[in-house]
Formats: sequence, C-alpha cells, structure tokens
Amino acid sequence: MAVKIGRNDPCWCGCGKKYKVCHEAFDAKIARFAAQGHRVPPRDIIKTPEQIAKIKESAKINIAVLDYIEEHIHAGMSTAEIDKIVYDMTTQMGGIPAPLNYEGYPYSVCTSVNEQVCHGFPSENVILKEGDIVNVDCSTILDGYFSDSSRMFCIGAVSPEKKRLVQITKECVELGLKEVKPWGFLGDMGQAVHDHAYNNGYTIVREIGGHGVGLEFHEEPWVGYHTKRGTDMLLVPGMIFTIEPMVNMGGVEIFIDEENDWEVYTADGKPSAQWEIMVLVTEDGAEVLSW
Ligand code: MF3
Ligand code: CO
Repeated sequence: MAVKIGRNDPCWCGCGKKYKVCHEAFDAKIARFAAQGHRVPPRDIIKTPEQIAKIKESAKINIAVLDYIEEHIHAGMSTAEIDKIVYDMTTQMGGIPAPLNYEGYPYSVCTSVNEQVCHGFPSENVILKEGDIVNVDCSTILDGYFSDSSRMFCIGAVSPEKKRLVQITKECVELGLKEVKPWGFLGDMGQAVHDHAYNNGYTIVREIGGHGVGLEFHEEPWVGYHTKRGTDMLLVPGMIFTIEPMVNMGGVEIFIDEENDWEVYTADGKPSAQWEIMVLVTEDGAEVLSW
C-alpha cells in the first residue's frame, strides 16, 4: 500500500513538481474507475518518464537482435545458432538476455518451431528447414530494465495454410494494438485479438498470456485474449505490457514437455504462431516500444 502523498509533496512520478499540480487529478480519476468496480492498475506498474526512457534503451537492443536474426535466419541453420547470436549480440551491446536462468530456463532465447507453441529450447539438433515457421522470442535486460518481443519467420517456401496462420496472427496483434488507449480497457484489446483469430477459424491458447513488463520481466497485468470489451484492467498512460497471442491452426489444447517442463506443444500437432509487441500506453494512444 502506497503512503498517501500530501498535495504539496513532490509528485511520485519524479517530475519535481508538487503532487497537486501533477498526478493528483490522475490518481483521483483512477480511483473513480475503481469505485465503479473496475480493475485498476497499481501505481508500481505505471512508469515514470525516466523509467520509460531506460526501457526504450533496453528495447533498442531487443529490436536490433531480432532485426539481425531476420536478416540471417535460413534453412540449414540450427536454432542453437540463433541462441548464440542472441547471447553474443545482446552482451556485446551491454545487455543480458532476460530468459537466461530465468526460473531455470537454460537458454538466451526461445525458438518455437511449427507445432511448438512457445518456450522452444534452441538446439544443435533442430535444423530449420524449408517450410518451417518459427517464432524467435527475445527479451533483454539493460541496466535492470526489461524489454520483450517476438517475431515469426517463414523458412523458404511455406505452405499457404501456414503462411495464412502467420499473417492472421500478425493481424491479431495489429488489431489489438489499435484498441490500446488511455482510459480504455485491456479487454478492448483482448476481444479484438480473439475475434480476429476465431473469425478466421483459429483458436488462441488460454493458459499463457502477455504481461506487464519494464521494471521486471513479468509484471501485472496478466494479458489474456478471452476477455470482453469494457472489462479487465483499466489502461492509463505509463503502463507497458505485451500483446503476444499464441494462435493455433487447430484446437486450443496444449501440453508441456514432461522431460524439461518448459516446451509447450499443440495437443493435436497442428502449427501454432505468435507475434509479440511491447506497448506503452501514452496520453493519446499507444506507442510500440519493441517488436
Ligand atoms: N519471452 C517470453 C515472454 O514473452 C518469456 C520466455 S520465458 C523464459 O514472456 F523463461 F524463456 F524466459
Ligand atoms: Co512476453
């Protein structure tokens, strides 16, 4: 519980101004939504301008690493090579790959191929081949600030069915992004993502969602896509979270590899796709910080 700030005390956002001329009205507005029964963001997930600047620096590395992989990924390459690129580039730029040793995760990146839904282990034995679709999920820590995003890559000529899955999943994220604005709701985004996937005959994994990010790897809110417009957490300027639906070509069911307790697969063996962006809620809309 935050200590109540006096009206003449310095504002919590670090601007140096008095609370009454800075965030007092903002906090009161949030309190009105809470009084109406809405879920509202706790103050510790609302980032200050200084924190946002640091998180953007972290995201620069994340974007550069994914850009490099986009240029160099090819059939015949092992996913272990991708892991090495991510580790080397991230550390050379002064960052740390956030996945490495995170809750025991043993690699610098997740590489999820075809029916792998997420958290695929990079491996010498996984050689990318023509027709594969692969998600490369990259996360960076710089100076203690976190960034997180992922992209899909099509290896050579991919079947029309898989290509469509990758494309529709990308559109889901873009349509979700359009719904992100201050004083809207997370459910506005969730429903837009959901409806586009399901209208195209796909399903979205229920158990694994996006998340707040920036000061920690995973913060509030948990970001699901089976939510309704006008529900879920209120969005306010300074919040940062990911939109990262895992869209399945077939059924919604998944299972986790029992041997490593990490890798997630579709139960029916059909392909799954995911794109992830990291989004800041601004005064008048949204800004994508990493993609
Ligand atoms: N980058 C993933 C996410 O989008 C998290 C990967 S979990 C890890 O949240 F352990 F592999 F890092
Ligand atoms: Co994420």
